[in-house]
Amino acid sequence: LTIAVLFGGCSNEHEVSLQSAASVIEQLDSEKYELVLVGITREGEWLRYRGPIADIRNNQWHSHSRCVPSFISPSRSISGLIELVNTEYHITPIDVVFPVMHGKNGEDGTVQGLLELAGIPCVGCDMLSSAICMDKEIAHTLVNASGVNTPRSVTLFKSDHEENRLRDLQDLGYPVYVKPAKSGSSVGITKAHNISQLLQGIELAYEHDHKVVIEEEIIGFEVGCAVLGHHYPIIGVVDEIEITGDFFDFTEKYSLQSSKIHLPARVDAHTAGRIKETAKLIYKTLGCKGFARVDMFVTPDGSIVFNEVNTIPGFTANSRYPKMLQTSGFTYPQILDRLIQLAVA
Ligand code: DAL
Ligand code: MG
Repeated sequence: LTIAVLFGGCSNEHEVSLQSAASVIEQLDSEKYELVLVGITREGEWLRYRGPIADIRNNQWHSHSRCVPSFISPSRSISGLIELVNTEYHITPIDVVFPVMHGKNGEDGTVQGLLELAGIPCVGCDMLSSAICMDKEIAHTLVNASGVNTPRSVTLFKSDHEENRLRDLQDLGYPVYVKPAKSGSSVGITKAHNISQLLQGIELAYEHDHKVVIEEEIIGFEVGCAVLGHHYPIIGVVDEIEITGDFFDFTEKYSLQSSKIHLPARVDAHTAGRIKETAKLIYKTLGCKGFARVDMFVTPDGSIVFNEVNTIPGFTANSRYPKMLQTSGFTYPQILDRLIQLAVA
């Protein structure tokens, strides 16, 4: 099979994608798969890449002289990756695309929609479920309707008369989390303890999205589930994030200076079972397939509260998603094989 791995992307999680993609490329079995690497710059330029993996990891990939402007044609009559070489173009037929990109323009249904038009199988969730999971307000509304608890929240739009909506916020109390509706890795998210931090947080969040979600703080701790499959998905060992600082922001996520990931989570078997069942319900409700990491909170009274779904979770060798599945007995290459089988099924 010829697998096109897309990496980078026009997203505020561009650098995270480079780390995930370098690991995926390293671990895809070269005896089974022909790899076609396509990097997407922060500006949105697609380039066929033939250099070393190390230069993806250290973000030097786009300066290679052999990068060639490329794109995936949405037309099924010119199917595959099109490389533009001077005034000519080359077509490389592609069997499966693995978009190893996080956030906007990669994890949000845009690339998935392009591939659906092109008729090329894609690893992971389809256009609709990717788009739904990317938008925190829409995902919460649907998950809440399925009977799972979600944090109380207020949604603001740039065009709103904010004075009106801010009144609704009084019910939430402080602290609150101020989030761009569509973002990842906590980029643009702040925790506000008072009105001035709240207003600053809203301004910052608007730099990332025209829609902002303000959520109450859930007392308890965050857990994650690695879900793999379609109709009968399997779920890895549940993990737990222990936070001793203020919150699990971008720096903490990738440095773990004051936070710690417990794998397995420090919960009893019954609670772990309930967390997994809830993750499965959320995964189905949001129409996920292939894979996703479902993040939830557990409160002191044992209630489970939905946080979010990452349809292309961080995927380095040290990332939570592969580690949770590895702890339940799968190797990293086996996870990749299964994802590809699911995409072509
Ligand atoms: N959005 C990052 C990559 C994650 O959830 O793992
Ligand atoms: Mg999360």
